[in-house]
Amino acid sequence: MSSPSNKPSLGGQLKNKLIQQALERKLKKTNQMPVRDRILQQLGQHIPEKHYRFHLLPAYQQLRIINQGAQQMSVPSPFFRVHDGSAGATSSIDDQTYINFSSYDYLGMSADSDVREAAKAAIDHYGTSVSASRIVSGERPIHRELEQRIATTYGCDDALVFVSGHATNVSTIGHLFTPHDLVLHDELIHNSVLQGIQLSGAKRLPFAHNDWAQLEQILQEQRHQFEKVLIVVEGLYSMDGDYPNLAEFIRIKKEHYCFLMVDEAHSFGVLGQTGKGIHEFQNFDAKDVDIWMGTCSKAMASCGGFIAGETALIEHLKCLAPGFLYSVGMAPTLAATALASLDKMQSNPERIHALQHNSQYFLQQAKAAGLDTGLSLGYAIVPIIVGSSIRAAQLSDQLFQEGINVQPILYPAVPEAQARLRFFISCHHTEAQIDQTIQALTKYLKA
Ligand SMILES: Cc1ncc(COP(=O)(O)O)c(C=O)c1O
Repeated sequence: MSSPSNKPSLGGQLKNKLIQQALERKLKKTNQMPVRDRILQQLGQHIPEKHYRFHLLPAYQQLRIINQGAQQMSVPSPFFRVHDGSAGATSSIDDQTYINFSSYDYLGMSADSDVREAAKAAIDHYGTSVSASRIVSGERPIHRELEQRIATTYGCDDALVFVSGHATNVSTIGHLFTPHDLVLHDELIHNSVLQGIQLSGAKRLPFAHNDWAQLEQILQEQRHQFEKVLIVVEGLYSMDGDYPNLAEFIRIKKEHYCFLMVDEAHSFGVLGQTGKGIHEFQNFDAKDVDIWMGTCSKAMASCGGFIAGETALIEHLKCLAPGFLYSVGMAPTLAATALASLDKMQSNPERIHALQHNSQYFLQQAKAAGLDTGLSLGYAIVPIIVGSSIRAAQLSDQLFQEGINVQPILYPAVPEAQARLRFFISCHHTEAQIDQTIQALTKYLKA
C-alpha cells in the first residue's frame, strides 16, 4: 500500500527489495537474450523511473517549475549572458556596452596590460599546463613564488595553492576533520565550506550571523564532547558585504582550544590599506588565525584558491589533501596572473583605495535614495534587497534595458524575503556610472 506521498510503506519497500534481488539473481544465471529481456522488463517494474532518469530527478523538476514560472511572467533569464570580451566596470554584451556590476574583478586586473603580459610570458615559458599533479609532474618556480608571496603577505610560515577556490575549502576541511570533530560556522557561510564539512563527517552547527556570543555559548555547552573543533567565518560576506569582529572570534577560539579558519575570498585585495585583508583592516596579527583561505579568482583576476598558515598545516595538506594530491597543479598562466596581480596590488595600492571609495560612494548614494542595502558596510559588495525572487529577476531585466548589467540573487541562494540584486563594485567604476545606476534603481523601485 502507498502512503499519501506515493512512497511505498516500509513493508512494501522490503518486499520490493526482495523481488529486485531475486530478479537480479535470475539475471546473473542466464545468457539467453529473450529470458534476459523478460527479466529486465520485470525488474523495470520494481525500480521507479525517477531512480534512473535525469529528467525525473526532484532538483531538476523544481528547476523546470521555476523556469516555467519565469517564462509565464515574461521575465527573461539573466543567467549565462554572453559577454563579447573582458568584463570589468563595463562589458560588451551583444555588441552593446553595459555598466557592469556582475564581475568580482574588484581591482580591474583582468584587463590590465602588465597582468596579461605576465600570463602570456608564463605560457611561452612553461606551456599551457603542468599536465599532472605537482607531486608527479614536479614543481614550477612560479607556483612556489606565488605561495611564498601569499605567505609573506600574511606573515605566515607558508601557503599552498589549489586549482579551485571551492575545491580548496572542500578538500581542506574535508581532509582535516573527522566524525569525532565539530565544525561551527556562521549561518551565511559559503557553500564550499558546507560541502567540506559534509565530506569530513564532522558534526556541523551554524551560529547566527556574526553572533560570537552565541558561538561562545555553544562551545561552553558542547566543546567537551568533541576532539578537534573548527570555527569558520568569512572576512567579507559574499552576499551581504559585511564582516565579523575577528578579535572576539580569536579570543573565543583561544579560550576553547579550537582552530579558526577565515575565508578571505572577498576580503583579500579589498580590506586594509594595502589589501592584505581583514587582519590589516582590523589590525591584528595574522598568526592568530589558524587557517587563512582565499581565492585567486576575485581581486587577483585568476583562478584557484590558497591556504596560508603554519608549516605543519601546509606540509600536511601538500602531502595528504586529496584535492591537491590527486589534482593537476595550477596552470602556470594562472599562477603568473595571480602573482602579477598581487605585485600590482601591492606596488599600486591606489586601486584598492579607489575600490574602497567607490564602494562607500555606492552605499551612501543608495542609502540616501532610501534603498535597502541590508547589512552592507560598503566594501566591494552592496546588495539592494527587493524582497521577492520574481521582483529581483524583473528589476535585473529592467536595469539591463537601461544598459546596466547586474545579477539577481534568488531563493534558495538567500531566503525569499531577502531576494536581491548584488552589486560587485570595481575600482574602475566612475561616480557618474554609480549615480546613473542609483537613479535607475530608484526609478523602478519607487515606481
Ligand atoms: C566566500 C567564498 N569562498 C569560496 C568561493 C569559491 O571560490 P572560487 O569561485 O574561486 O572557486 C567563493 C566563490 O565565490 C566565495 O564567495
